[in-house]
Amino acid sequence: MKPIIAPSILAADFANLEREITMINESEGDWIHVDIMDGVFVPNLSMGIPVVEAVKRHARKPLDVHLMIVQPERFVEAFQKAGAATISVHAEACPHLHRNIQQLKQLGVQAGVALNPHTPISVLQHVISEIDLVCVMSVNPGFGGQKFIEGTYQKIKELRRLISETGSKALIEIDGGVNQANAKPLLEAGADVLVAGNFVFSSSQPKEVIRQLKAL
Ligand code: DX5
Ligand code: ZN
Repeated sequence: MKPIIAPSILAADFANLEREITMINESEGDWIHVDIMDGVFVPNLSMGIPVVEAVKRHARKPLDVHLMIVQPERFVEAFQKAGAATISVHAEACPHLHRNIQQLKQLGVQAGVALNPHTPISVLQHVISEIDLVCVMSVNPGFGGQKFIEGTYQKIKELRRLISETGSKALIEIDGGVNQANAKPLLEAGADVLVAGNFVFSSSQPKEVIRQLKAL
């Protein structure tokens, strides 16, 4: 099966977002990954609901919204209304993760759970059959352009095992430091979705980078 490629607009030129979204529309990219940071869960701020609405007006691909925020239950409905197709909440930010997942399903979005690099796959054991996506962080969330953490491969293998044992339909998404060197090994290890920020947007030929990822 071909991988799902999700360019992350955190690395895009925010002064030319329409142009960047048009580039993704015209590319072989599948989803548009949108990183939301609150300065509390992660030590950085990024964009908010008005920017997601603006992106949605131009996007012809589904918006994959990654919430790096505390108490995401306060905002998921607003992000769904802004046009999110998938919303991922962080397990570490959700003491009542099962309830957060039910809320996402009631809103009719694809329900994702993101895991920080230190968080074991086992936290998903009792919710894996309820979710559509697991976002495995391969850097510590908060910034683009960081170095890929090699321990991610082991987590993918464990997650792939949990998914097949439970019959879950969840896709495995890898987020952070994806590049030419690790993309193919990640897919071979069992990843379904590759998020790529700097690897795509720092290129002078971003559509070609996306095409190459899609062809792996
Ligand atoms: C990091 C974000 C990532 C980021 C990836 O907190 O969740 O989605 O945009 O950027 P790169 O691909 O540059 O590591
Ligand atoms: Zn992300």
